[in-house]
Amino acid sequence: MPGICLRRPNRRTPRLHYNGWFAKWQTAREDMIRIAGLTKRVPTSEGELTILEDVSLGIDAGESVAIVGASGSGKSTLLGLMAGLDTATSGEIWLDGCKLSAMDEEQRASLRARTVGFVFQTFQLLPSLTALENVMLPIELKGDPGAGAKARDLLDRVGLSQRGHHYPNQLSGGEQQRIAIARAFATRASVLFADEPTGNLDTATGGKVVDVLFALNREFGTTLVLVTHDERLARECGRIVKLVAGRIASEESGESADA
Ligand SMILES: Nc1ncnc2c1ncn2[C@@H]1O[C@H](COP(=O)(O)OP(=O)(O)OP(=O)(O)O)[C@@H](O)[C@H]1O
Ligand SMILES: [Mg+2]
Repeated sequence: MPGICLRRPNRRTPRLHYNGWFAKWQTAREDMIRIAGLTKRVPTSEGELTILEDVSLGIDAGESVAIVGASGSGKSTLLGLMAGLDTATSGEIWLDGCKLSAMDEEQRASLRARTVGFVFQTFQLLPSLTALENVMLPIELKGDPGAGAKARDLLDRVGLSQRGHHYPNQLSGGEQQRIAIARAFATRASVLFADEPTGNLDTATGGKVVDVLFALNREFGTTLVLVTHDERLARECGRIVKLVAGRIASEESGESADA
Protein backbone atom coordinates (compact mmCIF):
# COMPACT_ATOMS: atom_id res chain seq x y z
CA MET A 1 0.00 0.00 0.00
CA PRO A 2 2.34 2.71 -1.15
CA GLY A 3 1.79 6.09 0.47
CA ILE A 4 -0.36 4.59 3.22
CA CYS A 5 2.08 2.32 5.02
CA LEU A 6 5.45 3.69 6.08
CA ARG A 7 6.94 0.23 6.08
CA ARG A 8 6.06 -3.32 5.24
CA PRO A 9 3.42 -4.26 7.83
CA ASN A 10 3.83 -7.20 10.19
CA ARG A 11 7.47 -6.63 11.08
CA ARG A 12 8.46 -7.75 14.52
CA THR A 13 12.11 -6.93 14.72
CA PRO A 14 13.48 -3.53 15.69
CA ARG A 15 14.85 -1.72 12.68
CA LEU A 16 17.54 0.88 12.20
CA HIS A 17 16.35 4.46 12.34
CA TYR A 18 18.34 7.18 10.68
CA ASN A 19 18.71 10.05 13.10
CA GLY A 20 19.20 12.96 10.70
CA TRP A 21 20.15 15.51 13.34
CA PHE A 22 23.12 13.65 14.69
CA ALA A 23 23.75 11.94 11.39
CA LYS A 24 24.27 8.54 12.89
CA TRP A 25 22.49 5.25 12.75
CA GLN A 26 20.95 3.98 15.90
CA THR A 27 18.66 1.13 16.79
CA ALA A 28 15.28 2.02 18.15
CA ARG A 29 12.18 0.11 19.02
CA GLU A 30 9.52 0.84 16.52
CA ASP A 31 6.04 2.14 17.16
CA MET A 32 3.46 -0.57 16.59
CA ILE A 33 0.71 1.95 17.28
CA ARG A 34 1.02 5.71 17.11
CA ILE A 35 -1.88 8.01 17.92
CA ALA A 36 -1.77 11.78 17.52
CA GLY A 37 -4.48 14.25 18.60
CA LEU A 38 -7.24 11.68 18.32
CA THR A 39 -10.79 12.90 18.82
CA LYS A 40 -14.01 10.93 18.50
CA ARG A 41 -17.38 12.65 18.51
CA VAL A 42 -20.75 11.08 17.82
CA PRO A 43 -24.10 12.69 17.14
CA THR A 44 -26.77 12.01 19.76
CA SER A 45 -30.34 13.27 20.23
CA GLU A 46 -28.98 15.79 22.77
CA GLY A 47 -26.31 17.06 20.37
CA GLU A 48 -22.74 16.01 19.70
CA LEU A 49 -21.05 13.83 22.31
CA THR A 50 -17.26 13.90 22.64
CA ILE A 51 -16.09 10.42 23.58
CA LEU A 52 -12.33 10.93 23.12
CA GLU A 53 -10.52 14.26 23.05
CA ASP A 54 -6.96 14.93 21.87
CA VAL A 55 -5.55 11.51 22.74
CA SER A 56 -1.90 10.96 21.81
CA LEU A 57 -0.05 7.74 22.57
CA GLY A 58 2.77 5.62 21.20
CA ILE A 59 3.01 1.88 21.76
CA ASP A 60 6.21 0.02 20.86
CA ALA A 61 6.34 -3.37 19.20
CA GLY A 62 6.27 -6.05 21.91
CA GLU A 63 5.00 -3.70 24.62
CA SER A 64 2.07 -4.56 26.88
CA VAL A 65 -0.23 -1.66 27.77
CA ALA A 66 -3.30 -1.61 29.99
CA ILE A 67 -5.99 0.99 29.31
CA VAL A 68 -7.89 1.69 32.52
CA GLY A 69 -10.55 4.17 33.59
CA ALA A 70 -14.10 4.44 34.83
CA SER A 71 -17.03 3.03 32.91
CA GLY A 72 -17.85 5.37 30.02
CA SER A 73 -14.37 6.96 29.93
CA GLY A 74 -13.83 5.83 26.32
CA LYS A 75 -11.67 2.71 26.71
CA SER A 76 -13.54 0.41 24.31
CA THR A 77 -13.94 3.26 21.82
CA LEU A 78 -10.18 3.84 21.87
CA LEU A 79 -9.48 0.12 21.41
CA GLY A 80 -11.86 -0.07 18.44
CA LEU A 81 -10.19 2.94 16.82
CA MET A 82 -6.67 1.54 17.33
CA ALA A 83 -7.74 -1.74 15.77
CA GLY A 84 -9.19 0.01 12.74
CA LEU A 85 -12.73 -1.16 13.53
CA ASP A 86 -14.02 2.40 13.87
CA THR A 87 -13.01 5.74 12.37
CA ALA A 88 -11.92 8.88 14.22
CA THR A 89 -13.47 12.34 13.89
CA SER A 90 -10.02 13.94 13.77
CA GLY A 91 -6.44 13.08 14.62
CA GLU A 92 -4.40 10.22 13.29
CA ILE A 93 -3.61 6.59 14.04
CA TRP A 94 -0.80 4.56 12.52
CA LEU A 95 -1.17 0.83 13.04
CA ASP A 96 1.95 -1.17 12.21
CA GLY A 97 3.16 1.79 10.14
CA CYS A 98 -0.12 2.25 8.23
CA LYS A 99 -2.11 5.47 8.40
CA LEU A 100 -5.65 4.31 9.11
CA SER A 101 -7.41 7.48 7.93
CA ALA A 102 -5.88 7.05 4.47
CA MET A 103 -7.33 3.55 4.10
CA ASP A 104 -10.78 2.49 2.97
CA GLU A 105 -12.72 -0.23 4.82
CA GLU A 106 -11.40 -2.98 2.57
CA GLN A 107 -7.79 -1.93 3.15
CA ARG A 108 -8.37 -1.70 6.90
CA ALA A 109 -9.97 -5.17 6.89
CA SER A 110 -6.96 -6.56 5.08
CA LEU A 111 -4.56 -4.87 7.54
CA ARG A 112 -6.59 -6.23 10.47
CA ALA A 113 -6.50 -9.76 9.04
CA ARG A 114 -2.70 -9.58 8.72
CA THR A 115 -1.88 -7.72 11.89
CA VAL A 116 -4.53 -7.83 14.58
CA GLY A 117 -6.06 -10.36 16.99
CA PHE A 118 -8.98 -9.64 19.33
CA VAL A 119 -10.14 -11.06 22.61
CA PHE A 120 -13.54 -9.80 23.72
CA GLN A 121 -15.16 -9.81 27.13
CA THR A 122 -17.90 -12.08 25.85
CA PHE A 123 -15.60 -14.59 24.12
CA GLN A 124 -17.54 -14.48 20.80
CA LEU A 125 -16.74 -18.02 19.74
CA LEU A 126 -18.82 -19.38 16.87
CA PRO A 127 -21.36 -21.69 18.56
CA SER A 128 -21.70 -24.09 15.64
CA LEU A 129 -17.97 -24.83 15.51
CA THR A 130 -16.02 -26.97 17.97
CA ALA A 131 -13.22 -25.45 20.05
CA LEU A 132 -10.65 -26.78 17.60
CA GLU A 133 -12.57 -25.48 14.58
CA ASN A 134 -12.90 -22.03 16.18
CA VAL A 135 -9.11 -21.82 16.50
CA MET A 136 -8.54 -23.29 13.02
CA LEU A 137 -10.87 -20.85 11.25
CA PRO A 138 -8.63 -17.74 11.10
CA ILE A 139 -5.65 -19.90 10.09
CA GLU A 140 -7.68 -21.49 7.28
CA LEU A 141 -8.91 -18.07 6.17
CA LYS A 142 -5.29 -17.14 5.58
CA GLY A 143 -5.04 -20.15 3.27
CA ASP A 144 -2.64 -22.01 5.55
CA PRO A 145 -2.86 -25.79 4.95
CA GLY A 146 -1.38 -26.53 8.39
CA ALA A 147 -4.38 -25.13 10.29
CA GLY A 148 -5.24 -28.37 12.13
CA ALA A 149 -1.76 -28.91 13.57
CA LYS A 150 -1.30 -25.24 14.49
CA ALA A 151 -4.69 -25.07 16.19
CA ARG A 152 -4.01 -28.27 18.16
CA ASP A 153 -0.68 -26.82 19.30
CA LEU A 154 -2.42 -23.64 20.51
CA LEU A 155 -5.11 -25.63 22.33
CA ASP A 156 -2.31 -27.48 24.06
CA ARG A 157 -0.67 -24.21 25.12
CA VAL A 158 -3.88 -22.93 26.69
CA GLY A 159 -4.29 -26.28 28.49
CA LEU A 160 -7.31 -27.48 26.53
CA SER A 161 -5.95 -30.12 24.18
CA GLN A 162 -8.52 -32.61 25.50
CA ARG A 163 -11.46 -30.31 24.74
CA GLY A 164 -10.97 -29.64 21.04
CA HIS A 165 -14.09 -31.57 19.99
CA HIS A 166 -16.35 -29.72 22.45
CA TYR A 167 -18.69 -26.95 21.37
CA PRO A 168 -18.58 -23.57 23.17
CA ASN A 169 -21.79 -24.31 25.12
CA GLN A 170 -20.08 -27.40 26.56
CA LEU A 171 -17.20 -25.31 27.95
CA SER A 172 -16.98 -23.12 31.06
CA GLY A 173 -16.49 -19.35 30.76
CA GLY A 174 -12.78 -19.62 31.55
CA GLU A 175 -12.33 -22.42 29.02
CA GLN A 176 -14.16 -20.44 26.34
CA GLN A 177 -11.96 -17.44 27.04
CA ARG A 178 -8.82 -19.57 26.75
CA ILE A 179 -10.11 -20.84 23.37
CA ALA A 180 -10.74 -17.21 22.35
CA ILE A 181 -7.13 -16.39 23.31
CA ALA A 182 -5.83 -19.37 21.33
CA ARG A 183 -7.88 -18.13 18.35
CA ALA A 184 -6.55 -14.57 18.72
CA PHE A 185 -2.97 -15.87 18.63
CA ALA A 186 -3.70 -18.32 15.81
CA THR A 187 -2.62 -16.03 13.00
CA ARG A 188 0.48 -14.83 14.88
CA ALA A 189 -0.95 -11.31 14.96
CA SER A 190 1.54 -8.52 15.68
CA VAL A 191 -0.94 -6.79 17.97
CA LEU A 192 -3.45 -8.34 20.28
CA PHE A 193 -6.34 -6.17 21.52
CA ALA A 194 -8.25 -7.49 24.50
CA ASP A 195 -11.34 -5.72 25.90
CA GLU A 196 -11.99 -6.88 29.46
CA PRO A 197 -10.67 -10.40 28.82
CA THR A 198 -11.35 -11.42 32.42
CA GLY A 199 -14.51 -9.37 32.87
CA ASN A 200 -16.86 -12.36 32.89
CA LEU A 201 -14.66 -14.66 34.94
CA ASP A 202 -14.19 -15.28 38.65
CA THR A 203 -10.84 -14.24 40.13
CA ALA A 204 -9.19 -17.68 40.04
CA THR A 205 -10.29 -18.43 36.47
CA GLY A 206 -9.39 -14.89 35.41
CA GLY A 207 -5.91 -15.44 36.85
CA LYS A 208 -5.41 -18.56 34.71
CA VAL A 209 -6.59 -16.71 31.62
CA VAL A 210 -4.19 -13.85 32.36
CA ASP A 211 -1.29 -16.27 32.77
CA VAL A 212 -2.04 -17.80 29.36
CA LEU A 213 -2.35 -14.36 27.77
CA PHE A 214 1.03 -13.17 29.05
CA ALA A 215 2.78 -16.48 28.36
CA LEU A 216 1.72 -16.34 24.69
CA ASN A 217 2.48 -12.62 24.57
CA ARG A 218 6.07 -13.28 25.73
CA GLU A 219 6.55 -16.30 23.52
CA PHE A 220 5.36 -14.64 20.31
CA GLY A 221 6.60 -11.09 21.08
CA THR A 222 3.09 -9.80 20.45
CA THR A 223 2.18 -6.21 21.26
CA LEU A 224 -0.61 -6.40 23.83
CA VAL A 225 -3.18 -3.66 24.42
CA LEU A 226 -5.84 -4.50 26.90
CA VAL A 227 -8.72 -2.76 28.58
CA THR A 228 -9.37 -3.86 32.10
CA HIS A 229 -10.95 -3.00 35.43
CA ASP A 230 -8.81 -5.73 36.99
CA GLU A 231 -5.92 -4.10 38.89
CA ARG A 232 -3.85 -7.27 38.98
CA LEU A 233 -4.07 -7.60 35.22
CA ALA A 234 -3.24 -3.91 34.67
CA ARG A 235 -0.18 -4.13 36.92
CA GLU A 236 1.15 -7.10 34.95
CA CYS A 237 1.46 -4.87 31.88
CA GLY A 238 4.52 -2.77 31.12
CA ARG A 239 2.49 0.46 31.14
CA ILE A 240 -0.84 1.60 32.49
CA VAL A 241 -2.68 4.40 30.67
CA LYS A 242 -5.62 5.94 32.50
CA LEU A 243 -8.49 7.61 30.68
CA VAL A 244 -10.72 10.12 32.42
CA ALA A 245 -13.68 11.44 30.43
CA GLY A 246 -12.05 10.66 27.09
CA ARG A 247 -8.62 12.13 27.82
CA ILE A 248 -5.39 10.52 28.98
CA ALA A 249 -5.14 11.52 32.64
CA SER A 250 -1.99 9.60 33.58
CA GLU A 251 0.55 7.04 32.40
CA GLU A 252 2.58 4.89 34.75
CA SER A 253 4.87 1.89 34.50
CA GLY A 254 3.52 -1.53 35.40
CA GLU A 255 5.41 -4.38 37.03
CA SER A 256 6.71 -5.85 33.79
CA ALA A 257 8.14 -2.53 32.54
CA ASP A 258 11.60 -2.71 31.00
CA ALA A 259 14.39 -1.39 33.16
N1 LIG B 1 -22.06 5.17 19.01
C1 LIG B 1 -22.22 5.84 20.16
N2 LIG B 1 -23.22 6.75 20.26
C2 LIG B 1 -23.40 7.44 21.40
N3 LIG B 1 -22.63 7.30 22.50
C3 LIG B 1 -21.63 6.39 22.44
C4 LIG B 1 -21.38 5.62 21.28
N4 LIG B 1 -20.33 4.81 21.53
C5 LIG B 1 -19.95 5.07 22.80
N5 LIG B 1 -20.73 6.02 23.34
C6 LIG B 1 -20.60 6.60 24.68
O1 LIG B 1 -19.24 6.99 24.84
C7 LIG B 1 -18.80 6.76 26.16
C8 LIG B 1 -17.57 5.87 26.14
O2 LIG B 1 -17.93 4.55 25.73
P1 LIG B 1 -16.96 3.32 25.83
O3 LIG B 1 -17.72 2.11 25.44
O4 LIG B 1 -15.72 3.62 25.07
O5 LIG B 1 -16.64 3.33 27.39
P2 LIG B 1 -15.75 2.33 28.27
O6 LIG B 1 -14.69 3.16 28.93
O7 LIG B 1 -15.32 1.17 27.46
O8 LIG B 1 -16.79 1.89 29.39
P3 LIG B 1 -17.02 0.44 30.10
O9 LIG B 1 -15.94 0.34 31.15
O10 LIG B 1 -18.38 0.59 30.72
O11 LIG B 1 -16.96 -0.63 29.06
C9 LIG B 1 -19.98 6.16 26.90
O12 LIG B 1 -20.62 7.19 27.60
C10 LIG B 1 -20.85 5.62 25.78
O13 LIG B 1 -22.20 5.63 26.14
MG1 LIG C 1 -15.86 -0.87 27.42
